[in-house]
Amino acid sequence: MPEKLDGKQVAAAIKSEIASKVKDYRESGKRAPHLAIIIVGDDGASHTYVGGKINACKAVGFDYTLMQFAGTISEAKLIKHIESLNEDEDIDGFIVQLPLPEHISVEKVTECIAPEKDVDGFTNQNFGSIVTQHPLLLPATPFGIMELLKRYDIVTQGQNCVVVGASRIAGAPLSLMLLQQGMATVTVCHKYTKDLAAHTRNADILVVAVGKPGLITEEMVKEGAIVIDVGTTRVEDKTRKSGFRLRGDVDYDHVAPKTSFITPVPGGVGPMTIASLLMNTLRAYETSEQGEG
Ligand code: GUN
Repeated sequence: MPEKLDGKQVAAAIKSEIASKVKDYRESGKRAPHLAIIIVGDDGASHTYVGGKINACKAVGFDYTLMQFAGTISEAKLIKHIESLNEDEDIDGFIVQLPLPEHISVEKVTECIAPEKDVDGFTNQNFGSIVTQHPLLLPATPFGIMELLKRYDIVTQGQNCVVVGASRIAGAPLSLMLLQQGMATVTVCHKYTKDLAAHTRNADILVVAVGKPGLITEEMVKEGAIVIDVGTTRVEDKTRKSGFRLRGDVDYDHVAPKTSFITPVPGGVGPMTIASLLMNTLRAYETSEQGEG
C-alpha cells in the first residue's frame, strides 16, 4: 500500500510551529509579522486561493492586508501600489496573486517587488539564489515540496528525479532545488519532450506540474516510485455544491497502487505552498526585525 504524503497534516504542523513563534514574539512586546496580498480582477479560483492564504495568516497570528483591484487597473498604477508596499515598513512581505489580466506584464510587475519582501520567491534575484546557494526567500511551491519530502525522511541524493513541466512558478525552480540542495539526478520534461513515458518510467521521484488532469497514467510510472502531483485543475462536477472539483495531473486511482508515496489532490502540494508562504513571511519579518536591532 502506498503511503499518502499528507501535505495538509504537515502544513498544519508547520503552522502550529509558526503560531508558537509568533506568540513568543508578541509576548516579548514585538509586533506580529504582516503579509499583504494583491489580487487583480475577479477570477474565482484566485479568490479561493487568496481566501486560503488569509485564513492561514489568521491561524498563525499574522497581520494581513488584502488589496483588491479591478481587472481594468493599468500596469503603471499597479506598479505604484507595489512600490508603496516596498517602502511600507509595516509590511514584511507581499504577493501579487497570479494570473494577471493580459494587458499587465507578469515579468515587469514581479521585478518591481523588493526581493526581501518577495515571499512568493518569484523575483529574478530569489530565483537565482537557488543556484548561488544563498537563498533569500525560496519560491514557495518548490520550497513546500522539498519540505514535504524532508518531513517524510525521503532522501533525494543520487535519486533519479523527473520533473514534468518547466514553469517559472514550479517546475523550473524545483528542478534546480532538487539538483542543488537535493543532490539528485534531474531530468526536466516539457511539452516538446519526445517520449514522455520513457523518462517518467525512469523516475524514482516523479513530480508533475503541468495542469493537464490525468496526464500521468499507470504505465508511465515505475513500481515503487514516489509521485508528487502539483496539478490542481478545476473540472466540472455537478454532484458538488460548488459545481466543480479539483483534479491533479496524475490518474491517482490507477497510479497510487504502484507507488511507495504519493500526494493527494487536494491536500498534498497546495497546503504546503501556503505553509511556505508563511515560512517566508516569518523569515522576512525576522530579517527585518534583526535589521532594526
Ligand atoms: N497563482 C497560482 N499559484 C500561485 C502562487 O503560488 N502565488 C501567486 N502569487 N499566484 C499564484
